[in-house]
Amino acid sequence: MDHFLSMKDLSEHEILRLIKEAEAIKAKKHEPFGKQLFAGNLFFEPSTRTKMSFTIAERKLGMESLDFTGEFSSLQKGESLYDTARTFEALGASVLVIRHPLENMAAKLAADLSIPVINAGDGKGEHPTQSLLDLMTIYQEFNRFSGLRIAIAGDIKHSRVARSNAFALRTLGAEVCLSCKPEWEDSSLPYSYVSIDEAAETCDAIMLLRIQHERHGEDKGMDPTDYLQQFGLTIERERKMQPHAVILHPAPVNRGVEIEDELVESPKSRIFKQMENGVFARMAVIKHLLIDRGIIDAVNVDQRDAIVSR
Ligand code: CP
Repeated sequence: MDHFLSMKDLSEHEILRLIKEAEAIKAKKHEPFGKQLFAGNLFFEPSTRTKMSFTIAERKLGMESLDFTGEFSSLQKGESLYDTARTFEALGASVLVIRHPLENMAAKLAADLSIPVINAGDGKGEHPTQSLLDLMTIYQEFNRFSGLRIAIAGDIKHSRVARSNAFALRTLGAEVCLSCKPEWEDSSLPYSYVSIDEAAETCDAIMLLRIQHERHGEDKGMDPTDYLQQFGLTIERERKMQPHAVILHPAPVNRGVEIEDELVESPKSRIFKQMENGVFARMAVIKHLLIDRGIIDAVNVDQRDAIVSR
C-alpha cells in the first residue's frame, strides 16, 4: 500500500490482512518501532474518536504525533493546504493523517507527496479507517463476511462511512442492504433499499448512521421522535432482531434520533467496542504503510514483537 485513501482500492486479501494484523496487535503487546518517527495529524473538521485514536495509535507505535490546528497555523497567512502538507514532509513527518470537508482532498495531496497519506474522512467521500474498524468488529463477532447480511441505515447520501463500508463489504462477499428516508438514497451505491423494519428483522448486523446536518442542513426541524419512529432503531425493532444480530454505529451518536437512548449500551450494541478497535485498526494501517514504503523494516518489527509476546 502506498497510501490509505479508499476502501475501493483494497482487495479482499488486503482487507483481511489488515484486520488480522489489527487483531494480532490487540492480542499482544506491540513493541514501539525503535526509531524516531513523526506523524502529522491534519484535521480540518471536528473529530473526537478518529483524532484521538490516531494519536494513541501513533504513540503506542512509538511515534511522535504532530497535532495541527488550522486557526493557529500559517494557513491564516495565506499558505495553501498543499504547501502546509509539503512543510510537514520537509520537516520530517513519515506519515500524514488528513480529515478535510472536501471529497478527494487526501487523494489530491497524496498524489503530490512522497510520504504516505491516510484519509481520515473526506467530506461525503470515504472514511476508510472507520470502515476497517467496523469490519474488524464484525469479523470478531462472526469470523467471516461471506453469507452475512448487513444493513446500513440512516443518512446514506451524505455519509462517507456508508460509502466505505458498502464498497468493502461487497468486496468481502457480504450482502449489503441500505435503509433511509427516500430523499437520502444514493444512486451511486447499487444496493437494495429496505425499510428499517426489514433491516432490523433480517440482518446479522445493522450499522446506524447519524444525520449529517453539517453536509446538507436538511431536517434540522424534523422532530427527533418522529425520525426515530419512522427511520431509527427503536426498542420494538431491536426486539425483532435475530438473537445473534448486533448493532453498530460509527458515532458520534445522537441518542434518541437514529437509535433509542437505551440501545446504545445494550447487550447487542458493539458501539464502544468499535471505538476500542479503532486504535488497533489504525496501528495496523500505519504499520503496513511504513513497512510497504520501506520506512521501517518488517522483519525487525515482527521479531521484536515476537520476543515481547513470549
Ligand atoms: N466516527 C468518527 O469519525 O468520529 P469522529 O468524528 O469523532 O472522529
